[in-house]
Amino acid sequence: MEPQRPAPDDPIARFLALFDLAKRTPQIMEPTGMVLSTVGDDGRPSSRVVLLKGVDEEGFVFYTNLESRKGREALARPSVALLFWWHPLEVQVRVEGAAQRVGDEDADAYFASRPRGSQLGAWASDQSRPLKSREELEARLAELTERFEGMPVPRPPHWSGLRVRPLSIEFWKNRTNRLHERHLYAREKPGAPWSFALLNP
Ligand SMILES: Cc1cc2nc3c(=O)[nH]c(=O)nc-3n(C[C@H](O)[C@H](O)[C@H](O)COP(=O)(O)O)c2cc1C
Repeated sequence: MEPQRPAPDDPIARFLALFDLAKRTPQIMEPTGMVLSTVGDDGRPSSRVVLLKGVDEEGFVFYTNLESRKGREALARPSVALLFWWHPLEVQVRVEGAAQRVGDEDADAYFASRPRGSQLGAWASDQSRPLKSREELEARLAELTERFEGMPVPRPPHWSGLRVRPLSIEFWKNRTNRLHERHLYAREKPGAPWSFALLNP
């Protein structure tokens, strides 16, 4: 068996160290990519990739159209899950928690840092709604490009960030004979102390 190291106490610090390693691993093309799962009113789950744009003791932040499927679902039913799979590190991280909107100032600052084309795209796309044709989208983009010409593009009111405040974080590490290492951190509410448990693989 491979030697077991003692598990760090703080899962956020542990995540940050691993995330840093993922960012320094050239084979990981998109270390910020994570799968977000939400649940609809009918109980049906859905998953998609989003990009992690910030992480600290408060939680994991991504940005999106709040009127998209994920946006509507996460605001109506804030219990969501995030999943990272960093294949070259043989690591999986599972996060579960409650999503809440980031403050408008944070969203404005992040929106302002995006390339102008992405800013215009955020206005042009009714994300997740049916689109008649590609031409319709391109026409809308042309119209918005003209409308905002010569001025900074403001953040659309329906476009913002969601912060997932974690209630559990599980670190999975590949081990021989499929006897993988699973370290589960859990807490009753944000700010409460973390408990730690080893899980069977
Ligand atoms: C690598 C990658 C990164 C993505 N990042 C984001 C993101 O940060 N925000 C976002 O809204 N959609 C992102 N998407 C698109 C989503 O996966 C999804 O198609 C879109 O947001 C609509 O999802 P929904 O209809 O479930 O709301 C990304 C897709 C990929 C493949």
